[in-house]
Amino acid sequence: MSAGRRSWADALRDDGSRAVEWAAGYLERLDALPVLARTRPGELRARLPAGPPGEPEPFQAVLDDLDGLLDGVTHWQHPRFMAYFATSSPPEAIAAEIVAATLNQVAILWRASPLATELEAVTVDWLAQLLGLPTTWHGHIEDTASTSTLAALAAARSATGRATVVCSDQAHSSVVKAARLLGMQLRTAGVDAQFRMRPDDVASHLATGDVAAVVATVGTTSTTSVDPVPAIADLCEATGTWLHVDAAYAGSAWVSPRNRWSAAGVERADSLVVNPHKWLFVPMDCSVLFTRRADDLRRAFNETPEYLRTSEDAESLSEYGPALGRRFRSLKLWAVMRCYGRQGLQEHIDRAIDLAQQFAGWVDAEPGWEVCAPHQFSCVCFRLHGTDAQNEALMARVNASGEIFISHTKLDGRFVLRLAIGHMRTTRDDVVRAWAVLRRESGA
Ligand SMILES: Cc1ncc(COP(=O)(O)O)c(C=O)c1O
Repeated sequence: MSAGRRSWADALRDDGSRAVEWAAGYLERLDALPVLARTRPGELRARLPAGPPGEPEPFQAVLDDLDGLLDGVTHWQHPRFMAYFATSSPPEAIAAEIVAATLNQVAILWRASPLATELEAVTVDWLAQLLGLPTTWHGHIEDTASTSTLAALAAARSATGRATVVCSDQAHSSVVKAARLLGMQLRTAGVDAQFRMRPDDVASHLATGDVAAVVATVGTTSTTSVDPVPAIADLCEATGTWLHVDAAYAGSAWVSPRNRWSAAGVERADSLVVNPHKWLFVPMDCSVLFTRRADDLRRAFNETPEYLRTSEDAESLSEYGPALGRRFRSLKLWAVMRCYGRQGLQEHIDRAIDLAQQFAGWVDAEPGWEVCAPHQFSCVCFRLHGTDAQNEALMARVNASGEIFISHTKLDGRFVLRLAIGHMRTTRDDVVRAWAVLRRESGA
């Protein structure tokens, strides 16, 4: 029965309970499912009706159909999802998303959602405290790091009046895309043997005098290398260049004091992006953009048409980024910070790093295998001695087993396997199993 004939409250009680029951059942059976989706491109689409129904259908029909489509899901919630950067959506955050959808806040300006606006300010302030960042910074939430970096570079361009961006060849592709979208020129600085941006190369780019921003990365996507932010900050300060730090993945690790070494110099950045949806156990999407130059960010984006003018002297967070309509993302971040606390978050981060270090130790000790890059966080780059084709075929076999899902990168032109631990439910047994699958499929 559709909600039309029931009150909304009754419809939510009814369909909401079905959805929560379905979701809890999914979490119960998830570990037995193959991690990587089993379908071929286009197959799911062919199975689905080509057009919408004319008559209303019961919500249960949606859940029933979903059951039949689960082979088309790559299970990011699986404890042996070890590809890209593993993420988590814990029950408290799932519950917060239901509440956020119920409130359906569209935070275009303060009046449209005082709570979403002010809770966002509070949660990003809490996050700064948890990560040891300057609490005087301005922060707001964007959907992704791609948008956060786009916003930061737009501010850098308008603040400096220059139109070139410098980053290393290990920087995330979102920097390349942002530069392209903004019509900025991109120059690439070289890296050292540990995949860290070379300050001497950055200096030679800055000597041209036309660089608006340098993007340094703490925790690069391929190897999680950490660019030398203090040295790059010196160069940026001397030349009036905006320093944007991309800590989308590794920034969450600063919740643990033992990882704070990698935050050195970050307090001197003009802007910084950290994605709680990557490694702080907040479901997609939640990317926090911090800046000490809030006025520059606002100048780059503030555009207030008549219909949005109000009498309140209050900040609207849509003044700091490209989107006007903003959803209530802070609720899930608030829920995660409250329900796990500093201690819980720290334990999960530290455990993931410890497990990754153990895995790297096993690879290192095994004849015929090699670790290919430093591994200071929860991601390990490694490969089997042999050709690129052999490593690629090994990855295909491992992923086809359904027992684990890993991804790859290229380092110094070589195909390298990448195992990233980050799901809250990943245990030592899961990592032992991952190594067993890799060895078995390698023919050991
Ligand atoms: C270092 C780094 N920066 C930025 C991004 C882009 O993140 P998003 O998907 O939130 O745009 C990624 C994605 O993995 C990343 O690893």
